[in-house]
Amino acid sequence: MKKAIYIILFILIAIFFTKDIDFFKNDFYENIKTIENPDDLLVLVNKNNKLPDNYIPKNLVLIDNKYSNNDKYLQKEAKMAFENLSQDARLLGYYIIGVSAYRDYNYQKSLYNEYVKEKGQSYADRASARPGHSEHQTGLAIDVMGSNNDYDLFEKSNEFNWMKDNAHLYGFILRYPKGKEKITGFKYEPWHYRYVGVKHAKMIYEGNLTLEEYLKTT
Ligand code: DAL
Ligand code: ZN
Repeated sequence: MKKAIYIILFILIAIFFTKDIDFFKNDFYENIKTIENPDDLLVLVNKNNKLPDNYIPKNLVLIDNKYSNNDKYLQKEAKMAFENLSQDARLLGYYIIGVSAYRDYNYQKSLYNEYVKEKGQSYADRASARPGHSEHQTGLAIDVMGSNNDYDLFEKSNEFNWMKDNAHLYGFILRYPKGKEKITGFKYEPWHYRYVGVKHAKMIYEGNLTLEEYLKTT
């Protein structure tokens, strides 16, 4: 009798853990869809949604070099919003500049390959998107740095503290928040912001959502 109870208990535990593994399993880079609306402001680019080959946004413009570290491009609406953000932050004493913005397919490919070479594929896949899967290719994403000029120190800076609660007022969202890697597919990136326009950014910020979660609710 006791033995039977142990066997049942063992089976129940085994089912529980198998379920658990299934629950956490993701299908990143499987069943990949080609994006049909690459010019949409809310375009979702991630490990399961790939931009069409050779996609280049039509309205890329240069960010004023006052707000970037030279020759960085964004789509026009995102560029104007970022310049306003950076300008307003500066008036409050926060120095926020764009250090990476639009990246074409081939540049992303070399960045990703470099990561794989230096850190190995599994780490690279948490930190860098494979070519065609980076929202930097949409011209709507920007990586920023503060006065300490270091991605790794950005999270601890006053600039980040300001960005995290104000970026949405300019239409930007923190695209890869802490603790959401299972949803976004990428580890926490306090420096990476995505332009979606003020209305959507506000709802995403207030709901503490990722773009993936937000698009499911709309
Ligand atoms: N670092 C982000 C995920 C990118 O490579 O687009
Ligand atoms: Zn980025």
